[in-house]
This record gives sequence, C-alpha cells and structure tokens, in this order.
Amino acid sequence: MNKLTYYALVIFNISVTPIVQEISPPKYYREDPETSVQLICDQCPPGTYVKQHCTAFRKTECAPCPTNHYSEHWHYSQECQYCSGVCKELQYVKQECNSTHNRVCECTDGWYLELEFCLRHRKCPPGFGIVQPGTPESDTICRRCTKGFFSNETSSTAACQRHTNCHALGLRMAVKGNATHDNVCYQNTEPAAPRCEIDVSLCEEALFRFSVPSELAPNWLNILVESLPGMKVKRENLEWIKQRHNSQEQIFQLLKLWKLQNKEQDVVKNVIQDIDLCEKGVLKHIGHINLTTDELLALMQSLPGKKVRKDDVKNMLLVCNSPKHILKLLSLWRIKNGDHDTIRGIRHLKTKNIPPGVAQNLKKLVRFLHSPTMYRLYQKLFLKMIGNQVQSLKAGCL
Ligand SMILES: *[C@@H]1O[C@H](CO)[C@@H](O)[C@H](O)[C@H]1NC(C)=O
Ligand SMILES: *[C@@H]1O[C@H](CO)[C@@H](O)[C@H](O)[C@H]1NC(C)=O
Ligand SMILES: *[C@@H]1O[C@H](CO)[C@@H](O)[C@H](O)[C@H]1NC(C)=O
Ligand SMILES: *[C@@H]1O[C@H](CO)[C@@H](O)[C@H](O)[C@H]1NC(C)=O
Repeated sequence: MNKLTYYALVIFNISVTPIVQEISPPKYYREDPETSVQLICDQCPPGTYVKQHCTAFRKTECAPCPTNHYSEHWHYSQECQYCSGVCKELQYVKQECNSTHNRVCECTDGWYLELEFCLRHRKCPPGFGIVQPGTPESDTICRRCTKGFFSNETSSTAACQRHTNCHALGLRMAVKGNATHDNVCYQNTEPAAPRCEIDVSLCEEALFRFSVPSELAPNWLNILVESLPGMKVKRENLEWIKQRHNSQEQIFQLLKLWKLQNKEQDVVKNVIQDIDLCEKGVLKHIGHINLTTDELLALMQSLPGKKVRKDDVKNMLLVCNSPKHILKLLSLWRIKNGDHDTIRGIRHLKTKNIPPGVAQNLKKLVRFLHSPTMYRLYQKLFLKMIGNQVQSLKAGCL
C-alpha cells in the first residue's frame, strides 16, 4: 500500500486493520509431516480454528468454531475453547457467548465478586462514609468522616455530610457535632451573652419592618439581598428565611441577619447615620422610667403572647442597667415570641398592673417610632441601599 492510499483510507475513516490482517496474518512454524520441511503457516482469525494445517502446496484451512465454542485471538489450535458454564447464583449474563467471546457473568447490583463468590457490598457504619462505591468487581470503600463531617446512617451509598453551619443560618450551636452526629442548632432565645447586648434595636426594628407589598415586587427580597452593602447574606440562608417566614416577616429576618453578619462594621450606622438620632429619641422616652424588679416583671406579664421567664428577667438585670434594661426586656419578649413585632406588642400592652406613667411613655414611644420623622428615615435608608427601585415601588404603593 503506498503512502497516499494509506492516508486516504485514514482520512475517509476506512478501517485499515482488517486489510493488513488479511494481507499478513500472524504465522506459526510447522514441520511438514511428509517432507520434514519447516513450513511457515498462517494462523486462524478469532471465531475460527485450524481445520487443516498448511502444507508446501496449501494454505492453512480455517473453519468457524462450533456452537458453544469460541476463540478470541489469532491462534493455530485445532479446536476452539468451550464456553464456560451458566452463570452462578447471584450472577446474571452480562454478555452471551459467541464465536469470538466467552460468556461474561457479573454479580447482580449490590454484590461483588470475591474469588468465586458474589458477596454483598459492605455498608459503611455511622461515622464512616463512602469514598468509592462498590462495583460488580470491587467492594465499597468506607472512610472515617473527617473533622467537620458526619454520617449518621449505615449505608452502602451515603458519603459523609458536612455539619450544618448554625452560625450561617443565624442560629446558635446547642450541641457540637462529631463523626456520627450533626451539629444541633437552636434559635437564640436565651440571654447567652453576659453583656447587655440587643440584637436589633427598636429603631432598627421599626426600619427593618418597613413593608413593601409583595405583589408590587415579587422578587423584592432578592433585589434587597443584592443591594445591601457589606457582607452579603448567602443564598442558602435566604432560602432558609423564605421557607420559614411569611413575606412581610422575610424582610425583617433578612435585614436582621444582614445586621448580625456585619456587626463589626456597624454597617447600619454607616448606611444611615440618623439612626443615632432615633436611638436618642427612644432613650428620651424611656430614660426616666425607673422601675423596681417587681414592676419590670409586671410589665413583662402585661405584654401579650408568651411571657419571658422570671429567671430570665432576673438574669438580665445582672448585666443590664436602667434604662437599657427595658429595651433588653422588650427584645427578650420579641425573641420569645418568634420575632413578633415589638411595637405592635407594646400597642397591646395591658396597662392595669403597671404604673400609669410608664404605660403612657411606652405609648408615646410607639407613636414616635411611627412618626413622619421615622418615615423619612425609612426612605433614606432604603433609598440609599437600593436606590430608585424602591423609590418607584414606594411611590406606586402610596
Ligand atoms: C461477540 O460478542 C462481543 C461482545 O461480547 C461483540 O463485541 C462481538 O461483536 C460479538 N461477535 C459476534 C460475531 O456476534
Ligand atoms: C441524620 O442527620 C440528618 C441531618 O441532621 C437528620 O435529618 C436525620 O434525621 C438523621 N438520621 C438519623 C437516622 O438519625
Ligand atoms: C457524638 O455525639 C453524640 C451526641 O452528641 C453522642 O451521643 C456520642 O457519644 C458522640 N460520639 C462520640 C464518638 O463522641
Ligand atoms: C430609681 O429609683 C431608686 C429608688 O426607687 C433610686 O435609688 C435610683 O437612684 C433611681 N434611679 C434612677 C436612674 O433614677
């Protein structure tokens, strides 16, 4: 074959190999029994056997393998090999025998071949996960879950899972996970920090509860996530919020999480310096309220919904001074009641058992938090954060 023809064959994707084989099959040496001359005979191709060895005058004569026989390679045997018997228990026929291939048996799903037998794939116990799933030829490979991962099931398919990131979900860790148990998270309903810290101030809450009718902007929450400065709230956390809260509550939860994530940067104050003015206004309304412990307890009993426990109020008083303790109590009440709107809570305050002056001051505080000044704050905050999108939304809804 000249070079050009060869390239042509290659280019047009015409198989070259059979031609080559036909031209020059592998050879074998054989002494002619009659003349004792050393002959070079052609071997027979797969699927055939040597029916007649070559002589000085004739080429090798090949014949097809009989049924249930095969030959896989070129050879010069006078018989084909017998196909191996039926597949064993727990095996199925992967490929039937034909003239060129023996029968192939394989262990059924979930089993692998060890020596002669099909054995069941190993299951990884709790604390171990799959690093390589089992195949018909090999067993499962398990490995102990490394730090930060766990597996709580016995399984031949499950890998180690990452521990739930409580912090990223805005939760606290109640029990640290290990190789067999996930982290256990809980909503922070107890005063855990020894400092008198308030997660969301009344002013922030009033701002964060700023509501945009969801029918005006169904993807409002996503727009907000994209526009908020500082560390972004992760998509998974956003999904978590969406699953657990109704649409109005979602905005508050999102902004709260965003604030907590950006606590170090004090991002709220950077976005809106006037928040300080608001906080001062709040203190002006409650600053001179001076309540005894019993009166504080009575105040907590007078709020609607679930009551903050007496012990929690007393513990709080160890770290919070007047007048911040009232704010702290209100935030404990909000958290206890699943982030219920504090301002709405104060509106439903029963005034019977608390000093009249206190009730009056709290009602004034509510009015202050819903005053036109505050409305300007809403606008400023949201305008600054997400620009004209909100402006037009708000204009549309007013
Ligand atoms: C025999 O089976 C093999 C696979 O097991 C297949 O590749 C081949 O084409 C078959 N040959 C014939 C002649 O059917
Ligand atoms: C395994 O952990 C997951 C995630 O924490 C949990 O949903 C599941 O119920 C646990 N399964 C068992 C058997 O403990
Ligand atoms: C893993 O944590 C669980 C639950 O907290 C506990 O019951 C178990 O003993 C721990 N296992 C190990 C090996 O520490
Ligand atoms: C609050 O009242 C108590 C007595 O009832 C008094 O000792 C305390 O100084 C007052 N605190 C403030 C800040 O007025």
